[in-house]
Amino acid sequence: MKKFSVKELFLSPQNCGKIEEPDGFGIYGDSECGDYVEVYLKIEDEHITDIKFLCKGCPTAIALTSLMTILAKGKHVDDAAEITDEVILDSLEGEISEEKKHCSNLGAEALYNALMNYVLKDIES
Ligand code: FES
Repeated sequence: MKKFSVKELFLSPQNCGKIEEPDGFGIYGDSECGDYVEVYLKIEDEHITDIKFLCKGCPTAIALTSLMTILAKGKHVDDAAEITDEVILDSLEGEISEEKKHCSNLGAEALYNALMNYVLKDIES
């Protein structure tokens, strides 16, 4: 399995930005006073064909949210729902410090919320 470096992801984060009229949209955190992530999904045939994110957070949060999008892109929605903070951390080259491990949680939670938004829209329509 390919491993990713926090430094490279922070210097060249992939999948930054927004998607107009997303099929799924999720947020996690508090935009007013702290770390905050938005995730946008485009989904076709239950697969994530495009994913973008915006992150207001520390460099590690930006890097690990970008890593989440790399892991999620192309996946079936059921498989993407299994991308937890542990999965993100397991995809890193080497270890990060204990106090930075929670930074992976932002992207994982925002992805889950975006997937729930997609599923609920599907049920309502
Ligand atoms: Fe709080 Fe990284 S998200 S230190």
